[in-house]
Amino acid sequence: MITVVGYDGSPPPPPAAERLAGAALVVGGARHLAAVPVPAGARTVVMGDVAQALDAVDGADGDVVVLASGDPGFFGIVRALRSRGHEPEVLPALSSVARAFARAGLSWDDALVVSAHGRDLRRAVNACRAHPKVAVLTAPGAGPAELGRALFPQSPRSFVVCEDLGGPNERVTRCRPAEATTRSWHEPNVVLVLDDGRAVGERGWIAGARPGPSSWALPEDAFEHRNSVVTKAEVRALALARLGPRVGDLIWDIGAGSGSVAIECARFGAAAIAVERDQESCERIRANVRAHGVRVAVSRGEAPAVLEHLPDPDAVFVGGGGPEVVRACASRALRGVVVALAAMERVRPTLDALAAEGLTAHAVQLQASRLSPLPGDVHRLAAANPVFVVWGERDAVPPPARAAGPSRRPQILARLPEGDT
Ligand SMILES: C[S@@+](CC[C@H](N)C(=O)[O-])C[C@H]1O[C@@H](n2cnc3c(N)ncnc32)[C@H](O)[C@@H]1O
Repeated sequence: MITVVGYDGSPPPPPAAERLAGAALVVGGARHLAAVPVPAGARTVVMGDVAQALDAVDGADGDVVVLASGDPGFFGIVRALRSRGHEPEVLPALSSVARAFARAGLSWDDALVVSAHGRDLRRAVNACRAHPKVAVLTAPGAGPAELGRALFPQSPRSFVVCEDLGGPNERVTRCRPAEATTRSWHEPNVVLVLDDGRAVGERGWIAGARPGPSSWALPEDAFEHRNSVVTKAEVRALALARLGPRVGDLIWDIGAGSGSVAIECARFGAAAIAVERDQESCERIRANVRAHGVRVAVSRGEAPAVLEHLPDPDAVFVGGGGPEVVRACASRALRGVVVALAAMERVRPTLDALAAEGLTAHAVQLQASRLSPLPGDVHRLAAANPVFVVWGERDAVPPPARAAGPSRRPQILARLPEGDT
């Protein structure tokens, strides 16, 4: 029998103590093994390399106890054990996230919980840029200082850094991102990243991030704009489909105008930066952002020079700027670039700029005619100007393989991913 025992600093409750007393093998971090009573005859394996520790569990003779922090079913070892075919009994303790929010005196059903443990920090940072209440499970090299460095100064937030909850070095510190960069922090720690004023949150029906918007490709009059300089709804619909904004993404909107694309990306939960050279337009973008109740950073300046100071985007919308700007965006975009163009002569250089940076390029001309009422209960077609939408994808999905004959063998799927610890 394999029992996973969660540890949160309290002595193991009776069922966990019983499993420990009868264990032939106890696996866990050095900190956990030192904190619980391990029977004299039991073999112990220190969980450094997770795969090696799991090998020991696979080959164990007799009952096994795996010690893990907090709730082992939450970003913990239970997934890895299951993926190796085990059906463990789980005796959870309080998750560090629940404990951290309790220390901060905040509800957390509306909080986003992200892990930087064994993963790239950038997705966690982007979630913090977009969402008002985020708990970050950290790792060495991806902790409070690195988070603070990434968020300062564009994203005003406050941190609640919770170190070694339940342990001898427990400390709860409220600070600003800038201050977090100058201090040293005990492992393990969890960081609550809060947008003051929005951190109390609304009562909802779903845990975590709010569901996506109920409608998108909003009409032009949902945004303040100057002389109809706003990406039309039909064009925005395709642009958003190709940008694919999600929680954890960062989207740039270059030549943002009214900020409509950046704002719609933020409504999908992505972090967004609107780049615009005109001061008045920047003010208009900020007003539109406020009106839509989202967060969008506004960077005033001229692309491509201003882009150097921005964090790498997942995807970019270019509403204004020539092939030089498109190429600069393509060189930085992790996933893709979408460009809206009125002039036909710009299409070829745009395709070339995307291809030069290794993106697979596509283009379409969109021409929408909206029904417009005429007297006498009839309608005419009001034609909008045609627009070219050109886009490039970094890792374009290859077309499905042609159906093969009956002798074709099924493909072996890649190995299941490793666990979360
Ligand atoms: C692999 S995750 C495990 C989460 C765990 N299952 C839980 O429910 O707390 C490891 C991360 O959890 C957080 N963590 C675990 N124990 C902690 C503690 N005692 N104090 C603060 N953070 C802790 C840290 O962010 C750590 O890097």
